[in-house]
Formats: sequence, C-alpha cells, structure tokens
Amino acid sequence: RDFDKWSQVDAWFAEKLAPEGPDLKYTLSNNSEQGLPTHDVSALQGKMLAIFIQMTRAVRVLEIGTLGGYSTIWMAKALPQHGSVTTIEFNKHHADVARQNINNAGLTERVELHTDAALDVLPMLKAPFDLIFIDADKVNNPRYLEWAIKLSKQGTVIVGDNSVRGGSVIDSDSDDPNVQGLREFIQIISEDERLEATAIQTVGEKGWDGFVMAIVKTI
Ligand code: DHB
Ligand code: MG
Repeated sequence: RDFDKWSQVDAWFAEKLAPEGPDLKYTLSNNSEQGLPTHDVSALQGKMLAIFIQMTRAVRVLEIGTLGGYSTIWMAKALPQHGSVTTIEFNKHHADVARQNINNAGLTERVELHTDAALDVLPMLKAPFDLIFIDADKVNNPRYLEWAIKLSKQGTVIVGDNSVRGGSVIDSDSDDPNVQGLREFIQIISEDERLEATAIQTVGEKGWDGFVMAIVKTI
C-alpha cells in the first residue's frame, strides 16, 4: 500500500514537473517492444539529471550504461546547442534500440554512442567531462569511478545510479557481486580526498533505490 502511494506521488510529480515529450514516450514503448529490461531511470530522475546539467552548466557529459537511451535523451535535451553526451553500451541490441530512439528524438548530432565494453572505451576518450553518470553493471563501479576521475576536471559532478538496491547496499555479507561492487565504490569515494559526496535514497515507481553524487574538488 505504501508502495502504491509512492508510485502515485511519483506519477503526480512527473505529470506536473517532468512530463515526457513524444521522444521519451517513444523510447519507452520502443524499448518495451524490443524486449529491453525496464531499468531506465524514472522521469523525475531523468529530469533531475537534466537539472544537474543546467546547474553545472555542463557541456560535455559522459554516460556509462546507455540501455535504450532514456536517460541519454533527458540529458542531451538539457544541454546547450554545442553540448554532447558520450554514452557507452556493451549490449549490441540495446545500443541498436538506443540509436533508433536517439535518431527519433533528433539528437544524433549531440550523442556519441559507443557499442563496446566501457573499460575498453574509457581509455580512448578525451578529458574532461563536466558531468558523468555511472549506470552500468555495478560490479565494475570501482573501475568506472577510477576512469571517471581520470576524465574529470575540478568541479566535475559524478552521479552513480542504483546505490541503494532495496537496502542491500548495507549488507556487508552480501554474496551479490553487484552489491559488493557498489560498497567498494562508496568506500573509495569516502576515502578519496579529491571527492566530496552524498547519497540520496529514493522511493517511487522504481522501488527503493537512490543516487550517489560526488563533486571533484581538486584533480
Ligand atoms: C539494474 C540496473 C539498473 O541500472 C537499474 O537502474 C535497475 C536495475 C539491474 O541490473 O538489476
Ligand atoms: Mg540504473
């Protein structure tokens, strides 16, 4: 029952504050038709990423984990004309669908999509990015963070999705490698003096989860 209420509040806020245009609606229906998992951020989270981009005046954005491009499109639309999102997706089918969705949104010029393992693509990217969204396999989060810092400048914002996972993040005995990757990711952030960070838990249509957010203070 509580879950219903959280979802209803999410839906109401989303309708008021983060309505999806036809491009985002098409993305979700195309993803569903083509059998992609429904792991996209919520509309309100997509809008939050868009707000972060505007708050930081980001021009170059990096996303690790494209899925069908739902968050990619939210972020690309928030950028200035000369801005760009570089996004990386390992799964070829997911990347094909993302490319359709990005084309349909008229954002092809503003999005550079790499279909490969992120750990192979990251070393080839030009630094720095202004905002980096980490939303791929959580096992590799510590490695993604290391690259995110290498690709940062002073003031770069790093956001990690799925940092709560239904509360399992505090289970030190978890045998889920994703949970252990997440815990290590947060431990590294907490110990790295170049970073200042916080975490925010969310409830709503995506269940109980959250974002970790860090700013690079010095590099
Ligand atoms: C999973 C991954 C995600 O990025 C997400 O937002 C939700 C779930 C998963 O792999 O289970
Ligand atoms: Mg996610």
